[in-house]
Amino acid sequence: MTKYKQQVIDFFNSRTTYDYEGKGHPENAKRLLDFVQVQPGQTILDLATGTGLVAIPVAKVVAPKGSVIGVDMSTKMLAQAKAKIKAEDLKNLELIEADVELIDFNNEKFDLIFCCSALVFISDIPALLNKCYRWLKPGGCLAFTSSDKGSHLSEVRIIVCKDLFGIDLPHIIRHLWTPEKCTKLLQNSGFQNIEIEQHLFRRERINDNYGFTQIEKEFYPRGNPLLNLSEAERKLLQAEYKKAVERLIADRGVWQESINLYVKAFK
Ligand SMILES: C[S@@+](CC[C@H](N)C(=O)[O-])C[C@H]1O[C@@H](n2cnc3c(N)ncnc32)[C@H](O)[C@@H]1O
Repeated sequence: MTKYKQQVIDFFNSRTTYDYEGKGHPENAKRLLDFVQVQPGQTILDLATGTGLVAIPVAKVVAPKGSVIGVDMSTKMLAQAKAKIKAEDLKNLELIEADVELIDFNNEKFDLIFCCSALVFISDIPALLNKCYRWLKPGGCLAFTSSDKGSHLSEVRIIVCKDLFGIDLPHIIRHLWTPEKCTKLLQNSGFQNIEIEQHLFRRERINDNYGFTQIEKEFYPRGNPLLNLSEAERKLLQAEYKKAVERLIADRGVWQESINLYVKAFK
């Protein structure tokens, strides 16, 4: 288990009321499901299923003949999914506690594979996309969500790191933050008929918390380039980031926009 994976598990294990952290998570899952056609009888995989916001409604649509497997590595996220599955007495949804980067399935097993709000956490995205392609039946579909470049003040952190230390911050969303990047990644794994919808997910107030985001403690699935900074450099980075956020508040008003990408691609 790498330090990074343990960081992801600890982060999600701490979110014991995930479905109720505002309306964002359920709304995002619903929008992805509106974008993808699920048919009765299908066999479906939900990668990084979390509390089952995608897997549970999908299991109801595919029942009684179809089935769903949800995989996640956070015990506490899965515990929330299990409680809902029990309350609804669903028999066709199996949960597996595992790292989706390490798990394997038979070739051509699934009609549809989902990965909602989670592909960004994967260390080797092309390798997982290759596996998804292999696990899908011919004509099968992979569907995932991502966020665009401007979301969550990502660009501010990148600019500050570059300006201060010449460090190219490998932001977690970078590989997936434009339709072009998503398309290229999918094409490289053999996917075709790629459709991407962009949706202004929310406009939110920048509050004080943003100024205090600990940049070096964010998620770096492919290695954290800020680990070697000295204590003084870290403090400087944090102070400059806070100033940049404050300047943004002054320039743009107090709102930032968060645009989500809804992506589907076929084998
Ligand atoms: C933001 S939540 C999304 C959950 C769910 N898909 C949804 O849309 O509500 C991200 C989930 O990804 C899981 N995750 C991240 N990396 C993973 C990995 N390598 N293997 C399995 N689960 C992973 C986390 O444990 C967490 O439950």
